[in-house]
Amino acid sequence: MKITLNSPLDMHLHLRDGDMLKLTAPLSADFAGAVIMPNLVPPVTTPAAMQAYDARIAAALDGADFTRYMTLFFTPLGEKELIAAKEAPGFFGFKLYPAGITTNSEGGVSDMAQADKTLRLMEEMGIPLLVHGESHGFVMDREQEFLAVYRHLATKYPKLKLSMEHITTAEAVRLLDEFPNICATVTLQHLIITLDDVAGGALRPHLFCKPIAKRPEDRDALLRAALEGHPRLMFGSDSAPHPRCKKEACGCAAGVFTGPVALPKLAEIFAAHGALENLQAFVSGNACQWYGLQPVQKTVTLEDTPMSVPASYRSYGEQVVPMYAGESIGWSIVR
Ligand code: DOR
Ligand code: ZN
Repeated sequence: MKITLNSPLDMHLHLRDGDMLKLTAPLSADFAGAVIMPNLVPPVTTPAAMQAYDARIAAALDGADFTRYMTLFFTPLGEKELIAAKEAPGFFGFKLYPAGITTNSEGGVSDMAQADKTLRLMEEMGIPLLVHGESHGFVMDREQEFLAVYRHLATKYPKLKLSMEHITTAEAVRLLDEFPNICATVTLQHLIITLDDVAGGALRPHLFCKPIAKRPEDRDALLRAALEGHPRLMFGSDSAPHPRCKKEACGCAAGVFTGPVALPKLAEIFAAHGALENLQAFVSGNACQWYGLQPVQKTVTLEDTPMSVPASYRSYGEQVVPMYAGESIGWSIVR
């Protein structure tokens, strides 16, 4: 069996910087493009920093045709600053982190009321807002507790292009159905694993991410929505590489590195459920429709011959362990 995808997009990707960027950028380059996260140290908060980062990504890609939909780390901004952002080449939208909720998010928003004016302007200007939607509550309840904030935003700013990033719960899928003015991304791992896979037996640090994987019924609801081709659910890998030594450590960093396995594994899952015809929408069509994107023309053919996933990827002095490290997955990219 084979499928050819047109211009697949990863709507949520961490590429990091420096040597890690050089290692990871080419490993996502089978996609036609990706929404690039701004949580560097320090975070990317200005158009100048964003464009400089984009240039470093372009260099790391070494000529690969891969569009960077760049994001800025949300901070309260006035109209002039928003205009400058919107006019900056490559700019896609703002990523809002509640302060301290995940990797390098200390400078995020601690009180949503402080964001009000900026959000109103973004709504008027058609600038997308991508949100890491977790409260500071009990780890399993964080997303669910944050849903009230999404409701509030979707009601108060009905025309704001609002995305619930990396949803992990059945309740978030229900919210997506309730509010036609919201979209969402979902990762590869949250379609597959539950908390049991992370911590039910021996602890598996390479599956530890934020938001944490939830219950089987949550995973099943996410998978169902993806397989059905829910028109406002998009693939966003949240591929989040950390050096191996930071994952296999006391105080394991959050993030699952899925960039190099995402497309083959998605094809395997969709094929196993007889839903291959909806994969194009999930990895490209829905995002293009929602955001009005016209990605570069690029096709990727996948087939049901196994891919051996390396135990780790190493170069430039960095080492990072992917999901399915050392295992075989059922589908691969035709080179
Ligand atoms: O697991 C995660 N890793 N979740 C995030 O929100 C951030 C990401 C990272 O940057 O490592
Ligand atoms: Zn992320």
